[in-house]
Amino acid sequence: MKLSKLIEGLDILKIEGDVDKEISRIVYDSRRAVPGSLFVCIDGFKTDGHKYIQSAMDNGAVAFLVQKDVPVLENMTVIKVPDTRYALAHVSAAFFEHPSEHFTLIGVTGTKGKTTVTYMIKSILEQAGQTVGLIGTVANIIGSERIPAQRTTPESLDLQEMFSNMKEKGADAVVMEVSSQGLKLNRVGAITFDVGVFTNLSEDHIGGNEHPDMEDYLKSKIKLFSMSKRGLINIDSEYAGRVLAESRCPCMTFGIENKADVYAEDIVTHADSVEFTVKTPWFGGRVKVSVPGRFTVYNALAAIGVAGMLGMGFEHAVNGLKNIHIPGRAEIVPTPGKPYTVMIDYAHTPDSLRNILSTVKEFVPNRLISVFGCGGDRDRGKRPQMGKISGKIADFTIITSDNPRTEDPMAIIRDIEEGIKQTDGQYIIIEDRTEAIRYAMSIAKEGDIIVLAGKGHETYQIFKDKTIHYDEREIVKEILESME
Ligand SMILES: Nc1ncnc2c1ncn2[C@@H]1O[C@H](COP(=O)(O)OP(=O)(O)O)[C@@H](O)[C@H]1O
Ligand SMILES: [Mg+2]
Repeated sequence: MKLSKLIEGLDILKIEGDVDKEISRIVYDSRRAVPGSLFVCIDGFKTDGHKYIQSAMDNGAVAFLVQKDVPVLENMTVIKVPDTRYALAHVSAAFFEHPSEHFTLIGVTGTKGKTTVTYMIKSILEQAGQTVGLIGTVANIIGSERIPAQRTTPESLDLQEMFSNMKEKGADAVVMEVSSQGLKLNRVGAITFDVGVFTNLSEDHIGGNEHPDMEDYLKSKIKLFSMSKRGLINIDSEYAGRVLAESRCPCMTFGIENKADVYAEDIVTHADSVEFTVKTPWFGGRVKVSVPGRFTVYNALAAIGVAGMLGMGFEHAVNGLKNIHIPGRAEIVPTPGKPYTVMIDYAHTPDSLRNILSTVKEFVPNRLISVFGCGGDRDRGKRPQMGKISGKIADFTIITSDNPRTEDPMAIIRDIEEGIKQTDGQYIIIEDRTEAIRYAMSIAKEGDIIVLAGKGHETYQIFKDKTIHYDEREIVKEILESME
């Protein structure tokens, strides 16, 4: 495609050189440049792409998108823009000929529930016979093809290529998790969502390379509603007022506590599911979701709301939710013949640990056994908090490891112990995660529920010197076999 066509409509500060060139490929990593490439210089957290112009040229790049002044050599085309991240999104969308205009695009943002809501929407739309693409934390999926995900929201160039792939595969709709980083860094720039969903907001992703403060975090989330045709907002969220006031599109609401367009009544929780009556402007009735917990009601309402907004029938929502399975989210692992239950959940923050443990505590017939650790090289402050939460809610806690990275696993465990010591919760420390799970299963009695928190869908454990394959579902199966 001609460079002039790629930059059509882009906010440009300065052009030097010829824009009539044919562009063979767009790259933001100079090592991937090939003859005829357009190299987009991103000033990132680790390094600055403007430093690699020569290397991109050596590989054949002919045009450069920059946001800083750089020396212009012969035969180079240099285009200066205010923000190369946004420009990358713009030229990528143009390069792939705006693939997302060919399907219904749904974006889900919020601190918690993004993965769950996207899986629920996908399931409902599939009930209605649609081919649905999914983009998010766990994997990117189109039809039966699975591509493991690198990050929750891919870089704009990779995202547009994925859209293009999904369009080729006949997607009627694509549901994607939109992280606040994805919004802030314009990974979803130059895209219009048919529906944007706001699940909730709590303190997370603040500090480091992410968001300086809560306001920045909220503002990033709200950005989705200047890129969507319609919005669906959780009215019970503390921040709903701000989102509704600052969104630039018409919005509908969902909730339980406050009056909403889509709301739930007569909620009944079970050990493995939750049931409620949903009322909406389009349809209403009893719904059962095969994931436990009150937060599941919120996630389901979001998905049902989107279904209604897109004109789906009530039966599609009911059928889409009744057997829904979300990898690593309150996932029950089969333990045939055993009188106890093992549940895997991705909870790895204080909030989500509290959520999952208190949810299970509500219906556990006997004891709640919690097994968890905290990641190394990550926020230390959350370790004692999580220790305290487990000590207060669980009947017994096994503190173990969860991606220690470069830290000493026992040092992390001692930080967690600080918190649990402040409660009268009983606990034991078993550094090796497999041994910790084995111990939990060996002491579990009839009616106990073991919650393995932290790993969820992940299939690895990261240590100082190595990363090993680690799939908790397989571990539980192996332990069961060794117990025979
Ligand atoms: N609506 C919700 N409110 C609070 N906690 C939730 C909600 N949905 C899920 N959770 C908790 O957060 C964890 C992560 O859920 P997930 O759907 O993966 O969210 P995200 O993709 O936004 O990180 C779940 O395992 C569960 O413990
Ligand atoms: Mg996610």
